[in-house]
Amino acid sequence: MSEVILEARDIKRDYVVPGGFLKKDKVISAVKGVSFTLEKGKTLAIVGESGCGKSTLARILTFIDAPTGGEIIINGKKVDVAKDGITKEMRQMVQIIFQNPYGSLNPRQKIGDVLGEPLLINTNMSAGERRERATEMLVKVGLGPEHYNRYPHMFSGGQRQRIAIARALMLNPKLLVLDEPVSALDLSVQAQVLNLLADLQEEFGLTYVFISHDLSVVKYIADEVMVMYYGEAVEHGSRDSVFSDPQHAYTKTLFAATPRADVESIRARLAKKQQTKAA
Ligand SMILES: Nc1ncnc2c1ncn2[C@@H]1O[C@H](COP(=O)(O)OP(=O)(O)O)[C@@H](O)[C@H]1O
Ligand SMILES: [Mg+2]
Repeated sequence: MSEVILEARDIKRDYVVPGGFLKKDKVISAVKGVSFTLEKGKTLAIVGESGCGKSTLARILTFIDAPTGGEIIINGKKVDVAKDGITKEMRQMVQIIFQNPYGSLNPRQKIGDVLGEPLLINTNMSAGERRERATEMLVKVGLGPEHYNRYPHMFSGGQRQRIAIARALMLNPKLLVLDEPVSALDLSVQAQVLNLLADLQEEFGLTYVFISHDLSVVKYIADEVMVMYYGEAVEHGSRDSVFSDPQHAYTKTLFAATPRADVESIRARLAKKQQTKAA
């Protein structure tokens, strides 16, 4: 039986921008009533051009920001951040990955401590247990025990994103919201990180909200696709239906602007990797 992990009901977010001396405040409606449900183990990709409200929605889904309207239901429980705050359990259940992990990594903190920190704060694990779990997780994300004592600047962009993913997984979340997680990486590294995310999703039964402006990436990773345009979800359906038969005029323009070669090259590379893995 399918199990709904995340439900968004008519989510809205307005920003009031002060107008300054003798000028009226301006209201920006960044998200204008977005609804969807997402089942366990699935990936919903959210696409749309810069400024259409993707990151605003990501912050709301991960409780960093409160919506000005609408409801979020996680694992059957309604979460009202503005009214009730947020429980530890809820916070652990949902994690976010940003485009630039360097910004969220403390340059003076060793990777082992970066990974151990969520355990230190939220569990009663001993130092030894934390170390063991952190080392285990390093291996899971394709790094190794030898990386435990290194600092963030000693890693490449792709490796740093692996570290951010490892940290997000330390407390066994159910839902990952990934906001342009591979957009800053080279194409070949993108494919590796996407492959890793697919493997981790399967191993841990994770549910993903995957935000991207890159349709070739979306085509590889998504089960469902939602297209945002000026704060609204103008299209939502299975990946295959949205890609093969886009309904909304904006989606058609978006697809027309994406070179096919990108999609094909990522697919080919991944297929090759799967073969070597199987062999
Ligand atoms: N804190 C904020 N204050 C005022 N306006 C904001 C704020 N955050 C985002 N916006 C505006 O909301 C809209 C959506 O932004 P954002 O969610 O970052 O879009 P995206 O991630 O799709 O590029 C933009 O017009 C942006 O300028
Ligand atoms: Mg954004």
